[in-house]
Amino acid sequence: MSLFISFEGPEGSGKSTQILLLQRAIERTGCKVLCTREPGGTPIGEQIREVLHAMENRAMLPITEALLYSAARAQHVGEVIRPALERGEIVVSDRYAHSTLAYQGEGHGLDRRMLHQLAQWATGGLEPDLVIYLDLDVIEGLRRKRQDASGEWNRMDEQDVAFHQAVRAGYLRMVESDPERWLVVDAAQSIDAIHQQIWARIRRLYDCSGLGNKREMKDGNQAHREYRS
Ligand code: TMP
Repeated sequence: MSLFISFEGPEGSGKSTQILLLQRAIERTGCKVLCTREPGGTPIGEQIREVLHAMENRAMLPITEALLYSAARAQHVGEVIRPALERGEIVVSDRYAHSTLAYQGEGHGLDRRMLHQLAQWATGGLEPDLVIYLDLDVIEGLRRKRQDASGEWNRMDEQDVAFHQAVRAGYLRMVESDPERWLVVDAAQSIDAIHQQIWARIRRLYDCSGLGNKREMKDGNQAHREYRS
């Protein structure tokens, strides 16, 4: 039995940190986990990422953006995500189709119906079992991202605050319309507190899917402490 989990959130919400902690916690249970990202996750997807995020591509139209993110996603699903799920692995993706709905749909105002169709086409209808949304004030997120010397400051980060606020509002609407699939976590909390909330929800998914029977699961705290030590 496989699981597909995606992470979403505005800039600087700490997705990568939480994905790393979750990866270690899942590995402690003996389950195989594959962590990947969008745009990217495949050699072709990573090349598309370069084009999408290059500062010199300021002239890129929103529709071009939507098509390129979706092209990278189609490759990602076909080459990486579906095969891993078929092998019975847990897949954790840093962003997925909801990012296109939020950024290109809500941020740029592209036609939502077309974007839904595009997502359907690119993914063959594959949806995550759980979307973890790390919610954070937009100004605070951009501030954090600017301060993160190891992170990438890209063309999308350069959009104005109103754009990022529309993206966040779009995410919150998506959560409302499908609350069973989404877990909202306040990303202003400590790294530990956020991880614990995510881990509690994943444990419930394990219980439902039978994954937890593979091996006695360690307490998330313990997994976290071991990771940090
Ligand atoms: P990140 O790897 O730091 O999350 O950066 C990815 C950027 O790309 C982020 O600004 C969101 C943006 N993005 C879109 O606009 N649409 C998409 O479909 C995806 C996957 C990402």
